[in-house]
Amino acid sequence: MNAPVAEKYTEETVLWVKRHTDKLMTFAITRPEGYRFSAGQFSRLGFRDGEGFIWRAYSIVSAEYDDTLEYFVVLIEDGPISAKFAQLQQQDSILLDKTATGFLLPERFADGRDLVMLCTGSGIAPFLSQLQQADVYQRFERIALVHSVSHANELIFNQRVHDLAEHPLVEDYQGKLTFQAVVTREAVDGALNARIPVLLKDGSLAQALGTEFTPEHTRFLICGNPAMVHDTFQTLLELGFAMHRNRIPGQIIMENGF
Ligand SMILES: Cc1cc2nc3c(=O)[nH]c(=O)nc-3n(C[C@H](O)[C@H](O)[C@H](O)COP(=O)(O)OP(=O)(O)OC[C@H]3O[C@@H](n4cnc5c(N)ncnc54)[C@H](O)[C@@H]3O)c2cc1C
Ligand SMILES: NC(=O)c1ccc[n+]([C@@H]2O[C@H](COP(=O)([O-])OP(=O)(O)OC[C@H]3O[C@@H](n4cnc5c(N)ncnc54)[C@H](OP(=O)(O)O)[C@@H]3O)[C@@H](O)[C@H]2O)c1
Repeated sequence: MNAPVAEKYTEETVLWVKRHTDKLMTFAITRPEGYRFSAGQFSRLGFRDGEGFIWRAYSIVSAEYDDTLEYFVVLIEDGPISAKFAQLQQQDSILLDKTATGFLLPERFADGRDLVMLCTGSGIAPFLSQLQQADVYQRFERIALVHSVSHANELIFNQRVHDLAEHPLVEDYQGKLTFQAVVTREAVDGALNARIPVLLKDGSLAQALGTEFTPEHTRFLICGNPAMVHDTFQTLLELGFAMHRNRIPGQIIMENGF
C-alpha cells in the first residue's frame, strides 16, 4: 500500500494495548475530531519505517459514536507491520489515514429480514462495530454472528458479544442477536466443528441458529480469509443466493479481510 501524502494522515496516540494470545491483540488510539466512518469500514494505519512508511488496512471495532478508535490485530509471523504491532505500547504514535473506506455495510441491503454475519479470524472486527449500532437491530428482525477460528483460545470476543445484551443502545433489541462459534481444529462445547462452507452446505449452521436460509428472507455479510470468502460465496451461489449490487439487489455482500 503506498504511503498517503503527508496532509492525508494524522498522527495519533496509542491509548491502551491488550495482548490476548501471542498472536492476537486489541488496542485503541485517539480519534481525531474530523474522523468519520460507517460501522463496517476500515482505516489505514501506518508507521514510519526507515526513510519511508508502512501502511495496512484495519477494520474499525469501535462504534461510530465512540471517542476513540479500537482495532483487533492478528500478528503474522515475518509480517512487516506485524513486527511493529508486536512492539506496540501505550503512548506510542501511530499514523491514521484521514479517510475510512469499505462497502461491507448492512444498510446497502434494501430488503430482507434476517442478517447473517459470517467471519473468520480478524474478520469479526467490522461486525463488532456494527453490533454496537442500534440501526442494524432496527433494520433486521434477527441477526446471527458466526465466527470461525482454528482454536478455542482465539474466541476472544465471546464475553463482549454476550455483554451487548446490556449495552444501553442495544438492550431494547435483546433476543435479536445469536452468536455461533465455529472452532475448526478442536472439539469445543457449543461450537460447530467444520468450515463455514461445509456448515452451510450440510444445513448444520441453519439448524444451530434455529432458522432456514432463504433468498427471500436471509442476507449475508462475509468477511475474513480470502479463501473462506471465495468458498463461502461459491457455496451460497450453489444454494441459490446472489451477490448484492446496488443496481441488482441480491443477498450477499463480502469483503476480503486481508
Ligand atoms: C480491508 C482489509 C481489512 C483488514 N482488517 C484487518 C483487521 O481488522 N485486523 C487484522 O489483523 N488484519 C486486517 N487486515 C490485514 C492487514 O491489513 C495486514 O495485512 C496484516 O496485519 C498483516 O500485515 P503484515 O505487514 O504483518 O503482513 P502482510 O505481508 O501484509 O501479510 C502476510 C500474509 O499474512 C496473511 N494475513 C494477513 N492478514 C491476516 C489476518 N488478519 N489474519 C490471518 N492471516 C492474515 C496473508 O496470507 C498475507 O499474505 C485487513 C486487510 C484488508 C485488505
Ligand atoms: N491458526 C493456525 O493454526 C495457523 C497455523 C499456521 C499458520 N497460521 C497463520 O497465522 C495467520 C493467522 O491465522 P488465523 O488462524 O488467525 O486465520 P485463518 O488462517 O484465516 O483461520 C481462521 C479460520 O478460517 C478458517 N478457514 C481458512 N480457510 C478457509 C476456507 N477456505 N473456507 C472456510 N474457512 C476457512 C480456518 O479453518 P481451518 O482451521 O480449517 O484452517 C479458521 O477456522 C495466517 O497467516 C495463517 O496462515 C495459522
